[in-house]
Amino acid sequence: MPHVNMLDVGGLRAGYDKLEVLHDVDLRVGEGRLLAVIGANGAGKTTLLRAVSGLIRPTAGRVVLDGRELTGLPPERIAAAGLAHVPENRLVFPSLSVADNLALGGWTRRRTGKGAARRSYILELFPRLAGRLKQPAGTLSGGEQQMVAIGRGLMAEPAVLVLDEPSLGLAPRLVGEIFAALGQLKAEHRLAIVLVEQNARAAFRVADEVVVLDRGRVVTTGTPEDLAADDRVHAAYLGGGYPTAPT
Ligand SMILES: Nc1ncnc2c1ncn2[C@@H]1O[C@H](COP(=O)(O)OP(=O)(O)OP(=O)(O)O)[C@@H](O)[C@H]1O
Ligand SMILES: [Mg+2]
Repeated sequence: MPHVNMLDVGGLRAGYDKLEVLHDVDLRVGEGRLLAVIGANGAGKTTLLRAVSGLIRPTAGRVVLDGRELTGLPPERIAAAGLAHVPENRLVFPSLSVADNLALGGWTRRRTGKGAARRSYILELFPRLAGRLKQPAGTLSGGEQQMVAIGRGLMAEPAVLVLDEPSLGLAPRLVGEIFAALGQLKAEHRLAIVLVEQNARAAFRVADEVVVLDRGRVVTTGTPEDLAADDRVHAAYLGGGYPTAPT
């Protein structure tokens, strides 16, 4: 059964000043699917997410969301079109409460009147946050802050969610909870998800498809099963060194 490509990135080139970091990157993610992007430090994973969400302007190629070309639009327009970007380092507003952090994420959708329903669905996804709504976000654990950062992105009702290393520095248990929530978002809420991860083992468990980025190019793509059977991928990314998250 063919599924709609909710996010379709083709021939993407982007970088910083005269330095081209991404050379001709293609990727597609269907509704209800999760694509994991793995690759070594400096491969261009963060740059890829920034170029997709409009934080940097691509020099060539296209970014199409649900059939709408968004290439070169500013980030707020791309967000309004349905893409939520959860950047690295879980940037929450530390002095604001969890509730206010979430409310800020729903700002662009404030006229829909669905903020309360949206919030309760996020609290179902991340039950840990339910008892902590009044707590300043800066006093939460790293994993809880990551949940707030993801929840804030979800408040805007995106069709596409892109996340930059949400597991970084977190205890395996929290990684398991966050990845379980991602699984729920794709299966039950039909989100298209792009997950950038160093923790390849954890990413392989939740991914439908995996892309390996090397020096700004997609060098391998396939299902987690295919890639785990590839000796080079196995040696480079699954050979150990990364903690294993529980499922
Ligand atoms: N703001 C910037 N200005 C100039 N060069 C940058 C900037 N940000 C990243 N780069 C360069 O772009 C390349 C890709 O970096 P990027 O952060 O996209 O990699 P990454 O795959 O996310 O790495 P990591 O796994 O360490 O997060 C690197 O060579 C990096 O030095
Ligand atoms: Mg990065």
